Amino acid sequence: MSDTKNNDSFTLTDNRSGQEYVLPVIKSAIGPDVMDVRKLYAETDHFTYDPGFTSTGSCESKITYIDGDQGILLYRGYPIEQLAEHSDFPEVCYLLLYGELPTPEQKKKFNHDITYHSMLHEQLMYFFRGFRRDAHPMAVMCGVVGALSAFYHDSTDITDPKHRMIASYRLVSKMPTIAAMAYKFSIGQPYIYPRNDLSFAENFLYMMYATPCEEYRVNPILAKAMDKILILHADHEQNASTSTVRLAGSSGANPFACISAGIASLWGPAHGGANEAVLNMLEEIEHPDNIPAFIERAKDKDDPFRLMGFGHRVYKNFDPRAKILQQSCHEVLDELGITNEPLLDIAMELERIALEDDYFIEKKLYPNVDFYSGIIYRAMGIPTSMFTVLFAMARTVGWVAQWNEMIEDPSQKIGRPRQLYTGETERKFKPVHKRR
Ligand code: SDX
Repeated sequence: MSDTKNNDSFTLTDNRSGQEYVLPVIKSAIGPDVMDVRKLYAETDHFTYDPGFTSTGSCESKITYIDGDQGILLYRGYPIEQLAEHSDFPEVCYLLLYGELPTPEQKKKFNHDITYHSMLHEQLMYFFRGFRRDAHPMAVMCGVVGALSAFYHDSTDITDPKHRMIASYRLVSKMPTIAAMAYKFSIGQPYIYPRNDLSFAENFLYMMYATPCEEYRVNPILAKAMDKILILHADHEQNASTSTVRLAGSSGANPFACISAGIASLWGPAHGGANEAVLNMLEEIEHPDNIPAFIERAKDKDDPFRLMGFGHRVYKNFDPRAKILQQSCHEVLDELGITNEPLLDIAMELERIALEDDYFIEKKLYPNVDFYSGIIYRAMGIPTSMFTVLFAMARTVGWVAQWNEMIEDPSQKIGRPRQLYTGETERKFKPVHKRR
């Protein structure tokens, strides 16, 4: 079928019958407009076909905008560079949830409300005991977050905006507590309760590293770096895990179950699990001299190995978050006095070589958000297995903001894609004694 574009519509022509179909164009605020294909199946008896949704807009959203060619990322219209430089994570949470930066009064109240939801129901402690000590912390996160729906019945009526906001606050503020408890459980140390006098990032680091045996003061440099990392990971349009949350939420599932589904999707090494995979890859490379061999493996079609932390479905230029994290990497290592970090040397050399290689240039493969984050986490003393947990901790606000937007969308309906069926046509059942 051919198509021509005029004014605010496309006209598709079925070259077999000459029949023409008009697809209205819906204009965007910025970025690509969309062809409205909602009536296409009813009118043409054909589905569109787009595995991986490379050309498909799944929803209308006002939260985050990405320009992959220009390397632009906006949260509610504000450039990520400005938010990373001048804002803080709770303020960015408010922005993503409510659409505007908070006034001083709104900021104070939001910080208070988020802080006062950070404790977990005491009964949940026993839930952790069901796991092996060596369980991957992402498995613990999936289980414990999903179990929250068994504890917070007073915020699971998704038709009630108050319930939705309480559940959103609970999820954003309890994720650091659950994450730190998963870490403490894995090392056999007692859980540390959150404190109401600490900031969001300080509280997380406090719950991770304090012990009941002595006073623990959070390093302000690490708290500031953590706050910036949380901002950079907070939301990212309709990525795999956000789309998972939206699809789960479209059936009316409770928010805790939806976020647990998002955590499961983020865990994959092609998505949020890449930060853990990058560190493992850098350790496997071991020395800059070994980089060319790994680059060749990444280019070899017969080798499943990919350069973790490189490439992106949307960014065909630098991921703006990677640029900010590269800078933070140097700042954190310098400020911690870590002058010799071989993994950073390998990462910098790997980036230099890859960005000069024709394969990576042609396929527009640049470092993404996961390439540098792991090196900063390692400098902060965070174990590799916790890297994706930190990604989930930050992305929870994006997930709940997108989930709320979906529920509030008057055109929202259950997500139910169709398929291109190429299996067996109908055939008659054969009793087992007749099968040869
Ligand atoms: C995140 O969507 C988001 O916004 C995600 C995220 C977020 O904030 O939510 O930004 C977070 O998930 C970042 C991505 C982290 N993943 C990795 O770093 C894993 C390594 N990267 C790849 O697996 C890959 O680049 C993806 C999954 C990120 C993107 O895959 P696409 O868009 O489906 O691209 P593709 O697999 O079709 O690749 C296009 C070509 C292929 O070659 P051809 O088949 O065309 O010959 O580029 C090649 C790929 O083989 N390629 C790579 C590569 N990434 C793509 N080759 C070597 N190393 C890589 N890393």
